Amino acid sequence: AITRARARGGRGEDGDHGAAARMRRDIDGLGRARVDLERAKADFAALTERLLYVQEEERARISRELHDEIGQSLGAVEILLASARSQLAEARIQPADRRIEEARGINARLLAQVRDIAQGLRPAQLDALGLVPAVREHAATHLGRAGIALSLTGNVEGRRLPAPVELAAFRIVQEAVANVMRHAGASRVEIGLEIGADALAVTVRDDGCGFDPGVPAGEQARRGLGLIGMRERAAALGGSLTVLGEPGGGTTVRARIPVKEGGA
Ligand SMILES: Nc1ncnc2c1ncn2[C@@H]1O[C@H](COP(=O)(O)OP(=O)(O)OP(=O)(O)O)[C@@H](O)[C@H]1O
Ligand SMILES: [Mg+2]
Repeated sequence: AITRARARGGRGEDGDHGAAARMRRDIDGLGRARVDLERAKADFAALTERLLYVQEEERARISRELHDEIGQSLGAVEILLASARSQLAEARIQPADRRIEEARGINARLLAQVRDIAQGLRPAQLDALGLVPAVREHAATHLGRAGIALSLTGNVEGRRLPAPVELAAFRIVQEAVANVMRHAGASRVEIGLEIGADALAVTVRDDGCGFDPGVPAGEQARRGLGLIGMRERAAALGGSLTVLGEPGGGTTVRARIPVKEGGA
């Protein structure tokens, strides 16, 4: 009996040690979870702040464009037309004609500017013609201006996809192209739009400087919102986004957006 009691006692002590160790591990785990949670909260707060800032920035930019560019040009047209009118009242046809021609020139530039602004806010081709023409127009215009070669491949031409999928894919390409022009120093870009059995694959590959996409979220938030926004757009539709790259080796952004069979 004594031996058994001792043996039990021994096991009991062992059990206490085991429980204490488990508890210590649990406490350590809780501590780490708390640190993770605090970090996630800080990231979220930083992102929210950044999002509001970006929204205000965007409004300020549009306001500036409307006021400075469009407003001033409209003012100039008004002055030219008023002056042409008073010249016409004095039957001075030639100078009046010159004023009107000048006004028409400004008006043509105005039209182009308004188209550019509207296009940036919401691409007209996307609703009217679908994903491929919208992507082609956007990428060719912007990369063309920067002298970057473009190739666009895939099997989506002439095919309509659900509107949220088209919009998400377009916005992802738009941000990826903006990033190429801002950060990559690339000479060529390949865009792929490939529809499979259950998903659309969007790929934007550049041959630029590349970067390390594996930086922590907090660091990312300080850098910008573009990559996060692309990922969110894909995730909102049940998809995913990966960024592959290494310094010096170019960058590839690849999104997968689920599309139901026979959808649209
Ligand atoms: N194609 C690319 N080539 C090289 N570096 C890139 C590329 N795309 C992104 N990066 C790097 O990743 C960072 C994060 O990109 P992200 O789009 O999130 O932010 P941003 O472009 O700096 O700012 P924002 O998009 O919010 O205006 C960039 O600052 C840049 O350093
Ligand atoms: Mg960006």
